[in-house]
Amino acid sequence: MPTPEKTSSSQIISPRTVLVVFGTRPEAIKMFPVIHALKADPRFRVVTCVSAQHRGMLDQVLQIAGIVPDHDLDLMRPDQTLDALTAALLVELGKVMDVARPDWVVVQGDTATAMAGALAAYYRKLPVAHVEAGLRSHNIYHPWPEEINRKIIGTIAALHFAPTETSAAALKAENVAAHTVHVTGNTVIDALEWVTARIAAEPALAAGLADLEARFAGKRIIGVTSHRRENFGGGLEAIADAIRRIAERPDVALIFPVHPNPNVRRVMDAALAGLPNVAMIEPLDYPHFARLIAISEIMLTDSGGVQEEAPALGKPVLVMRETTERPEGVVAGTARLVGTDADRIVSEIFTLLDDKAAYSAMARAHNPFGDGQSARRIVELLANVEYPIL
Ligand code: UD1
Ligand code: UDP
Repeated sequence: MPTPEKTSSSQIISPRTVLVVFGTRPEAIKMFPVIHALKADPRFRVVTCVSAQHRGMLDQVLQIAGIVPDHDLDLMRPDQTLDALTAALLVELGKVMDVARPDWVVVQGDTATAMAGALAAYYRKLPVAHVEAGLRSHNIYHPWPEEINRKIIGTIAALHFAPTETSAAALKAENVAAHTVHVTGNTVIDALEWVTARIAAEPALAAGLADLEARFAGKRIIGVTSHRRENFGGGLEAIADAIRRIAERPDVALIFPVHPNPNVRRVMDAALAGLPNVAMIEPLDYPHFARLIAISEIMLTDSGGVQEEAPALGKPVLVMRETTERPEGVVAGTARLVGTDADRIVSEIFTLLDDKAAYSAMARAHNPFGDGQSARRIVELLANVEYPIL
């Protein structure tokens, strides 16, 4: 236990115990700036708990961010169902909360881990703070099951850290008390700035793509990711078909770190193995993924986080989804929804490759999602808010 802090009036203030719960790669990326900031602040005692809903992809982030979790539930199972995962999360996260007895439980985003973490906290009447609150597509099956996960968390949370005015407005439209909603920016920009600085100081951290960069020298690189559950089946097959057709162009190369979900691997292996202009590779750690965005001319993705990072690095991002809960990039013109129709994806990519004006219109570096100071704001809010606050 840290030594209690003394105020100027000599009053002893015990540090607040904050339990930070996360479990997947994107949560780890967006949570590590908050964990770093909390740990640097004597007003807090920080307890970290990973569900390890992801394993290898989570561990990649923990390693680069230098985080050793206090609790590791190791809950990933191959091709796990949402029912089994959610049930296990609820039971195991509850046990951790009973031991840690936190003043606050902090969750991020909209995964099963975040939703079950909020629910387990609610069952113990522990206040929940939600990082990346208020994202809404207004379609409960896109993304599935994340739209409902984040609505459940939004119903439970006592503090909502909305990344943008749009997400704050979405919460207020659902009658969430306005004084509990704070626009903080998205911590993904903090994470991206942190990793960019790390790479600048130590280029070897992102040098592992050198062989691929040499193999594809002179080609125009498109970075690809795809993993959404609502795209399993026909959607992923159409995405694979589009990639195959784009790769027929000799001037193009696609670098595709493939999500380890077997439902994704099966489709991509069957459709794309052996194509000379397509490199299907293992998931990249965060420095290497930042490098991939940097060397790509275009990002083609169904990911949430990549929709935020690509605009920050000035890269057009084509989003293979029907809806987005991140309209800010679309409004700003750096992101475009292209759905999962193969003809549409191919034609949008070819337009960007062949029409300089269309490309320049999308390739403007800007950060509609944050300014790199989000974690600092979140920590101040956690330090100063009193509970109950409703
Ligand atoms: C989860 C989140 C989704 C998030 C995504 C980020 C839910 C419901 N979904 O979806 O919001 O966008 O993570 O990637 O929480 N696997 C491995 N190694 C890993 C990670 C996954 O082998 O490091 C395989 C396992 O077979 C696992 C499967 O991928 O069962 C799916 O993982 P899971 O966390 O259930 O769902 P995602 O589709 O990754
Ligand atoms: N990412 C990574 N390595 C990869 C692919 C993605 O580090 O090989 C990072 C990416 O920079 C982003 C996050 O993972 O921050 C996005 O994760 P994912 O697409 O799995 O989830 P989503 O954002 O859709 O929830």
